[in-house]
Amino acid sequence: MPDKNMNIPVHIGIIMDGNGRWAKKHFQPRQLGHRAGANNFRTITRYANSIGVRYLTLYAFSTENWQRPKDEVGALMRLFKDYLREALRDFMDENIRVRFIGDRSAFDKELQELMEEVEQASAPKTGMVLNLAMNYGGRAEILRAAKSFAESVAKGERAPFELTEEMFSRLLYTGGQPDPDLIIRPSGEERISNFLLWQCAYTEFVYFDILWPDFRPEDLLRAIDIYNSRQRRFGGV
Ligand code: FPP
Repeated sequence: MPDKNMNIPVHIGIIMDGNGRWAKKHFQPRQLGHRAGANNFRTITRYANSIGVRYLTLYAFSTENWQRPKDEVGALMRLFKDYLREALRDFMDENIRVRFIGDRSAFDKELQELMEEVEQASAPKTGMVLNLAMNYGGRAEILRAAKSFAESVAKGERAPFELTEEMFSRLLYTGGQPDPDLIIRPSGEERISNFLLWQCAYTEFVYFDILWPDFRPEDLLRAIDIYNSRQRRFGGV
């Protein structure tokens, strides 16, 4: 459990990376790495809620992940379905509200229906908001918001000069939510990979050389500790 003086970030983002390398390290097929990653997804989500994180955004599937071999994509889709069904049973007792960010129209009908069901069933929850980024890309999200604003201009509802950062933020999938305070990327890679591009303008980044299936609640606390040791100046002095 965190020290009571610890300042828990309101919004944390995590790029769940390293499942494939974890599988390789254990001489297992990549699919098993994703299964281990999915198990850990559940552990970390519950833990984050228990320590008072208000928003947790997890990168589960990017717009680029479709380029993976067909059987790996198929295995990931099955995993998403299993875990969403489980979420319907489990997270319900946890007071977690689940939202999906990304273009869900690319998923099959069954998965889209499950997403809808999970969102609706958890909508009354008052605890942590869990954003699952699925078929999500930061650039695609920004384009979508730009198109939406352009459409309202074309319809004569808005004028171009009216657009503000706040208004634009509201057009993103995360509209109405605070920007992430902290983004964690395990696995040793140190890049943003098209995650929350607009929202991360002033986010603190913590990179760990741990593969996602091995990322423990203590590592989350360690990342929060590092975050606490940093001085956020938001461009000021
Ligand atoms: C990155 O590891 C991980 C993914 C592309 C999938 C993330 C998915 C999960 C953790 C599964 C569960 C999620 C839910 C919501 C049930 P990688 O394959 O890129 O690893 P590598 O870089 O070592 O190959």
